[in-house]
Amino acid sequence: MDDTVKGTKLLKTKHLLGIKGMCREDLELILQTSESFKQVLDTPNKKVAALKGVTVVNMFFENSTRTKISFEMAEKRLSADVVNFAASSSSLKKGETLIDTAKNIEAMKIDMVVMRHSTPGAHKMLMDNLNSIIINAGDGAHEHPTQAILDLMSIVQKKPNLKGKRVTLVGDIVHSRVAMSNIHALKLYGAKVQVCGPSTLIPKDIEKMGVEVTYDLDEAIRNSDVMNILRIQLERHVGASFPSLREYHNYWGITNEKLARAKNDILILHPGPMNRGVEIDDDVADGDHQVILDQVLNGVASRMAVLYLLSANIGGAK
Ligand code: CP
Repeated sequence: MDDTVKGTKLLKTKHLLGIKGMCREDLELILQTSESFKQVLDTPNKKVAALKGVTVVNMFFENSTRTKISFEMAEKRLSADVVNFAASSSSLKKGETLIDTAKNIEAMKIDMVVMRHSTPGAHKMLMDNLNSIIINAGDGAHEHPTQAILDLMSIVQKKPNLKGKRVTLVGDIVHSRVAMSNIHALKLYGAKVQVCGPSTLIPKDIEKMGVEVTYDLDEAIRNSDVMNILRIQLERHVGASFPSLREYHNYWGITNEKLARAKNDILILHPGPMNRGVEIDDDVADGDHQVILDQVLNGVASRMAVLYLLSANIGGAK
C-alpha cells in the first residue's frame, strides 16, 4: 500500500490514544517531522499554513499549563482554527453526557479533538462515536502520549542512539501516565528502562512491561544515562504513600549532592509541573544536566507534528 500523500509519509495510526501498540516507524516519523517543525519555530513568523481550513477543539477536563498551551500554540502555528471548550461553564454541568456534548460540537463541523480527561478510556469512547480525529492529552494514570514523544525527542537530541542506554523514571510511577507512555516509547527505541521509587509508588508487576525495578536511588543514579524525575501526584493519592513530603525529599529527592555519583553526561528530564524541594532541588532543576525547558519547546514542535500527520486522516479515520 502506498503510504505517502503528496510526498508526505503517513502514520499507520489514525488517532493518537496512546503509545502502547504504536510501531517504531510511526514514532520515528513523528520525531523526524517534529525536528522540521522545530525549525519553523525558529523562523521570524513561526507559522506555516499546513492546517489552514482545519478546525481543532481542545477539551481539557483536568488542569494543565504546558499541554493545553502547547497544543493551542501548535494548532495556531499550523494556521488551524482553534476552539477551546471550557468544561466548567459548559452544559455538562446541566447533565449532558460527554458523548452528546462532543457530538453537538462535531455537528458544528470540526475535524480534530484534543482531550485531557481523568477517565482512562474516555478517548476510545469519543473515537467510537465521532468522525473526528482524537488526540489524547492525558487520561487519568493511563497514558500521556505527546509527553512521551516530547520526552523522547529531548533525549534523542542529546543521545541519538538509545539502544542499551539506561533511562530511569524516578518517583511516583503508580499514578503516572507519563511513566506508562514513556516506558512504551523508550522500549520501542531499544532503551533499558528502569523505574525507581518507594515500593508504595511502584506498580505491582511492572516488570511484566519489560522494565527493571530498583528501590535503591544511589544505584539508579550511578547506572543511569538519563533520569526522568516525576512529580508526586498528590491529587491522585488516596492514602499516605510516604510519611511526609520532607521525608520523601530526604530519601527520593534528586539533589546535586546525590548526582555527584552519576555519570558525567547524565541527562535530567522533568515533565512538569515541578515540585521544587520535593522530587527535585533547585540546583538540579536549573543545573547543567537538565533539559526541562527544551522539553517544553519540543512539546510545541512535536504536537505540531502529531496534528499535521494525523490531519491526513480527516474525513476518513473510521
Ligand atoms: N507535563 C504536563 O502534562 O504538564 P501540564 O499538566 O501542565 O499540562
